[in-house]
Amino acid sequence: MFGVCYYPEHWPESQWDEDAKMMADLGLTYVRIGEFAWSRLEPNPGEYDFAWLDKSVATLASVGLKVVMGTPTATPPKWLSDLYPEILPVDPDTGRTRGFGSRRHYDFSSPIYLRESLRITEALARRYGSNNAVVGWQTDNELCCHDTALSGSELAGQAFQDWCRRRYVNIDQLNRDWGNVFWSMEYRDFTEIELPIGAVTETSPAHRLAYRRFSSDQVINYHNPMVEMIRQHAPGKFITHNFIPMNETAVDNFALAAPLDFTSYDNYPLGRTDLLMTDAPAEELRRYMRTGHPDFATYYHDQTRGLLNRGFWVMEQQPGPVNWANNNPRPAPGMIRFWTLEAFAHGADCVCYFRWRQAPFAQEQMHAGLLRPDNSKSEAWPEAEQAMAEVALLDIENQPLQKASVAIITGAEGLWVSDIERQGEAYDFNNVQLSYYSTLRELGVNIDFISVDADFSGYKLIVAPSLPIVDQAFVDKCRACNGQFIFGPRAGAKTSEFAYPTSLPPGLLQQLIPIRVLSVETLRADCQEPLNWNSHIYKSGIWREQLDASGSNDNEIIASYENGEAAIVRNQRFTYMATLTNRAFLLDFFQQHCQQADIQTYRFDEDIRISQRGNLMFAFNYSQHQQVLPLDPNVSFVLGSITIDPHGVTVWKI
Ligand code: GAL
Repeated sequence: MFGVCYYPEHWPESQWDEDAKMMADLGLTYVRIGEFAWSRLEPNPGEYDFAWLDKSVATLASVGLKVVMGTPTATPPKWLSDLYPEILPVDPDTGRTRGFGSRRHYDFSSPIYLRESLRITEALARRYGSNNAVVGWQTDNELCCHDTALSGSELAGQAFQDWCRRRYVNIDQLNRDWGNVFWSMEYRDFTEIELPIGAVTETSPAHRLAYRRFSSDQVINYHNPMVEMIRQHAPGKFITHNFIPMNETAVDNFALAAPLDFTSYDNYPLGRTDLLMTDAPAEELRRYMRTGHPDFATYYHDQTRGLLNRGFWVMEQQPGPVNWANNNPRPAPGMIRFWTLEAFAHGADCVCYFRWRQAPFAQEQMHAGLLRPDNSKSEAWPEAEQAMAEVALLDIENQPLQKASVAIITGAEGLWVSDIERQGEAYDFNNVQLSYYSTLRELGVNIDFISVDADFSGYKLIVAPSLPIVDQAFVDKCRACNGQFIFGPRAGAKTSEFAYPTSLPPGLLQQLIPIRVLSVETLRADCQEPLNWNSHIYKSGIWREQLDASGSNDNEIIASYENGEAAIVRNQRFTYMATLTNRAFLLDFFQQHCQQADIQTYRFDEDIRISQRGNLMFAFNYSQHQQVLPLDPNVSFVLGSITIDPHGVTVWKI
């Protein structure tokens, strides 16, 4: 259940034996290699050199290690981009070609790059597909990392025209769907359509939504043939990909994951915390700068698991300071072990540390590894050892994943819509989704992230933080299951072509809750207004809708604005929140909902997180002080005790 990311090509061959021996001695099983090695695998066009990789695989296998082979398409070599400059993508914001010298310098719309990627993938898959030491494959590396989902290239422009032709069939339909009569934006032919970049001011939102959908499809259309190619030559071996979260790439990760055996995630809690808390006051960041925010790692674990609704891998686990955030602190003592156990508690089947040894050269020389460049063991080493022993003790491997009681509906469309239609600067898809997730997690409930296409049955509570586009099939599915639903503001607010529903928002959801959104206001984040619920005053802000709730006698106004107007309306199993609120509200509100839906909650200290896997309950203490868990002292502890240390973990059996 443990592995490491290794780059044999960075080290002299004389070191490989010793490396492999040390990996095996540490108790690792898997070694991921190869994912950036194209220039060594094919030093000249068509001239392959597999001798070194053969040797490396054999060396690892000789001590019983299993290899996960990465395909090297994230780093096309210099000769390739010189030979075919068309493979380079164009930055849609600046119009500049993104050149050679780092990674991900390729355009998803380049047929030549697809051809070349398939060629190198085929060569590798043929060579290692039936090699017993190579047990699985990783495609590319973090597709669309570094903001590379969108390209403003000519090739992308032409492919976009074809995509539009396929989707809208005739140009009048497209003009109607996009509302192109506005500002004389009408086209006479598909060949006139450009990418929605470089215009004077705002381009049509429907045009931009189409560009996002197209770009996401391009990534999937690039990736799928690679998976097929590996399957063909490596039958019976697993294929995975290390995903970048959907909210960062804006790609439909559900669709991208579809052909894989399982999904993987690269877990860098401190880097993410630094970036996501950039605007937080110093006291808040300081609290979590060495532990990571209590909900960031699991937020992505749960989303990664949700893509295929099965166990996932942490393909890269932060082992110490990284090099790429604004600031890169050292993890607090114990955090490597803590994050490892946390990943397993959230459904990981394997955790691989990134990387084996810190590289003394190039871009990531300041990035820690399990070993330092002088081969001494870094602080992460004994923690990885401890985690391995504890995972074995807990027999986590045999703890099945159970369906959570609570699901959050997520997807790329909500993100696209809120990115495209800013309306208020403070509305941010990810912040909204994360705030719902984080408060539910503070209540100790397990959460599944699901798509609109998922099976809703069995969930007691389904929350849709930001779901602007729904279709009739979705509405029918909501009706057909028994769970409670909570919709955040903007639900059902747009048609599939980014128009205002003629019956007013929430559009098709009016079949579930007959309400109408009469107007929308957005407020600066620090200008909040009162929200009245259960005779308490909370806060409403950022996004506020004025509702007409008179459409049904079953509509119940359960919270109101300062002027008495409806802010949250319930109609039997369906609740619509017309406003964003504050954390205190979400905690109380979700707690009440969970109680009503018979979902067990644990409202401990705000820095304690509770997670369940199989019949194991985990408590994670993100705070800097020792705490006594408010548990029955007679529960059967299997790790730690009722007194939990700072950054400690307690596990008990139920
Ligand atoms: C990941 C990436 C790795 C390495 C790592 C550094 O995002 O997949 O190749 O760059 O970050 O933290």
